[in-house]
Amino acid sequence: MAEISRSWVLVQRPVGDDFDSALKLQSLPMPEPGEGQVLVRTLYLSLDPANRGWMAGPTYIPAVPLGMPMWGGIMGKVVESNAPSIKPGDIVGGFGSWSDYCVLPAADVNKIPDMGGLPLSAAQGLFGGAGGTAYVGVIDVGQVKPGQTFVVSGAAGSVGSLAGQIAKIQGARVIGIAGSAEKCAWLTDELGFDHAIDYQRENVRKRLGDLCPNGVDVYFENVGGAVGNAVVANLAKGARVALCGLVSQYNLDGGPVSGLDMLPVLLKGASVQGFILLDYLHRLGEASAKLGQWLAEGKIKYHVDITDGLENALASFKTLFQSGASHKGKMMVRVDSQAN
Ligand SMILES: NC(=O)c1ccc[n+]([C@@H]2O[C@H](COP(=O)([O-])OP(=O)(O)OC[C@H]3O[C@@H](n4cnc5c(N)ncnc54)[C@H](OP(=O)(O)O)[C@@H]3O)[C@@H](O)[C@H]2O)c1
Repeated sequence: MAEISRSWVLVQRPVGDDFDSALKLQSLPMPEPGEGQVLVRTLYLSLDPANRGWMAGPTYIPAVPLGMPMWGGIMGKVVESNAPSIKPGDIVGGFGSWSDYCVLPAADVNKIPDMGGLPLSAAQGLFGGAGGTAYVGVIDVGQVKPGQTFVVSGAAGSVGSLAGQIAKIQGARVIGIAGSAEKCAWLTDELGFDHAIDYQRENVRKRLGDLCPNGVDVYFENVGGAVGNAVVANLAKGARVALCGLVSQYNLDGGPVSGLDMLPVLLKGASVQGFILLDYLHRLGEASAKLGQWLAEGKIKYHVDITDGLENALASFKTLFQSGASHKGKMMVRVDSQAN
């Protein structure tokens, strides 16, 4: 086995979008598992906008300590185990790091079940945090009903692309907002959204007014800022806003943050509910069962955008914060070229 393992180490807290100064790829001694721990060869690393918050300071979890490998969701193959529940060769998922190899408590890893012929990437692209967040946001928080008008921002992304399709399955009329004409065409032509708005080239507020004369019943908010406020200005009476994320705000470092305008919320008697998937882990079983069923029935599609090589993780991560960047669906890094 290799004697070293590469890791992206957090050497300083990010300032704005200067991730190059915050993260450095370093070769470190191979980590050794202690009692009750497993050594995992990373196959896939999940890239998520939330990683920015974990680098910067405490969020819903503590901040990543400086000098330590950057945390991330991983899937990998167990190469050594000091716990009876996990065997070498098991394929597991867990909260690891941006590293070739991770040591994790055996109690904190999940064995990834056979997915009926689907590639391993589906475990993050459809069933993991992406699908779970989309499902909970649409069903539990948004509570969308048949015939309602549902709008999702960040619509061509990992969570948004699934959220729109889930709302469609519930019988809603679905409008997606994304950052390029190509993404918008994908939403309507491939994923079955009723309409898509390119916020880089169109006036979102006016277009929504034209498309939704009776207002937006449910808004799945992923981005905030000008896009979020253009939707909020079009809310229907008694609308619900499922506040999933505010990606346009994450690099502002306490600068002039543009949250959601509250006056339209007041005037429309709307409700805004933030949610964090970690508070809904009990719902993941149902979410996975439904997503698997809809995939088998051809009612839902997922897309993974895979970058090869741990050394390319940072460059890919940065594109999560670039409006109109070409990726669609779930951003992942294939750390081991043998991963399927
Ligand atoms: N609450 C939870 O538990 C939870 C769990 C997972 C994710 N989230 C949140 O859900 C949101 C989506 O996450 P994801 O993993 O699915 O990421 P994603 O949508 O796959 O990637 C982020 C996308 O955001 C868009 N974007 C970037 N900067 C923007 C800006 N300034 N204005 C408007 N759009 C911008 C870009 O798409 P365009 O090219 O279309 O602009 C980019 O592709 C994030 O806010 C994330 O923090 C929340």
